[in-house]
Amino acid sequence: MKHSILVTGGAGYIGSHTTLALLEAGHEVIVLDNLANSSLESLRRVERICGKAATFVEGDIRDRALLDSIFARYSIDAVLHFAGLKAVGESVQQPLAYYENNVSGSVVLFQAMAAASVFNLVFSSSATVYGEPKQMPISEDCPTGTPTNPYGRSKLMIEEILRDLSLSEPRWSIAVLRYFNPVGAHSSGLIGEDPNGIPNNLLPYISQVAVGKLQKLSVYGDDYPTVDGTGVRDYIHVVDLADGHLKALAAIATEQGVHVWNLGTGQGYSVLQMVSAFEQAAGVTVPYAIVPRRGGDIAECWADPKKAAHELGWQAKHSLDDMMHDTWRWQQSNPNGFSQ
Ligand code: NAD
Ligand code: UFG
Repeated sequence: MKHSILVTGGAGYIGSHTTLALLEAGHEVIVLDNLANSSLESLRRVERICGKAATFVEGDIRDRALLDSIFARYSIDAVLHFAGLKAVGESVQQPLAYYENNVSGSVVLFQAMAAASVFNLVFSSSATVYGEPKQMPISEDCPTGTPTNPYGRSKLMIEEILRDLSLSEPRWSIAVLRYFNPVGAHSSGLIGEDPNGIPNNLLPYISQVAVGKLQKLSVYGDDYPTVDGTGVRDYIHVVDLADGHLKALAAIATEQGVHVWNLGTGQGYSVLQMVSAFEQAAGVTVPYAIVPRRGGDIAECWADPKKAAHELGWQAKHSLDDMMHDTWRWQQSNPNGFSQ
């Protein structure tokens, strides 16, 4: 069935891939984005890929009047809420900006949704809410921990707000999606991750070294209790992640309450395994140096994805090799991201 979906942060990395998947599935999409960390070019590319356009509204989730006007104008069935700030280091420097954008912004959005009687919501959370994991793999019934930075705490706070909201008003149907490490790009090479400045995350950093924009990768520590001493994460292809949102949207259409799903592959790879998989896929050498651990990093983290498989009929389909090839295609054809 065709639905009208409001996608906050839909011009961003994960939002643009999900907007594409929604349009391809025949839904009407309204994107609200203040372009704080994205470019409208991403949505033009989405249109080039699928021949359909999302309606774009430039603005902020903290702007209640704007939200009210969107809910009045379009008959929205559900909201996919990606908008927010996400740089861990920056969140330590500017905690108030993170609490204001992520937490206060979400509160304004949820108020506007309730006022418009729109109770279907998919929220972008993160595996960071598990803190230092006590067991591996991480399933949804593992207790949440203490995130090590304001960004992570903002995600946990929003999750708690959503639980309170659902207790106060049973009509809310909420999917909390805890992403593991999103990577990769659409296979067209037209959309992908376009980090501002020097990337914080591993794969964008590797691919910028490979394309010659950065000299060498710093590997943050080789003395963790892992397969080769470097940090292990569960990398998930962004197109699989986008598909998870469509499945979650279908599930909450019939199920009220708050539902938490991990979106990961269930397989962890170390930093050095990622470097060598990238080198193999791209056919280039990635110089690196081992440097001290990065503050706040954990040794390893990967998902138990069984709950999403059973309840959503979702599982990641793309291999590590797909992630590497797609990242490289995107990086090579767009060395400067969306600004050509
Ligand atoms: P992104 O920065 O590419 O996308 C976020 C989008 O939100 C951007 O287009 C930005 O311009 C917009 N935005 C920010 N503040 C806004 C505001 N106040 N009003 C309107 N728009 C605003 O990030 P992403 O990687 O696509 O992440 C999407 C969501 O997923 C975020 O909530 C992020 O915290 C979460 N998440 C991301 C990762 C990851 O590693 N990429 C991991 C776990 C969770
Ligand atoms: N790493 C390096 N060098 C780099 C960048 C990263 O060695 O230049 C290592 C890290 O130490 C870690 C691994 O590569 O072992 C992955 O690091 P990322 O920064 O790519 O990802 P994180 O797991 O640290 O963080 C990601 C998201 C956060 C989210 C967190 C937990 O970026 O938003 O997962 O879900 F909070």
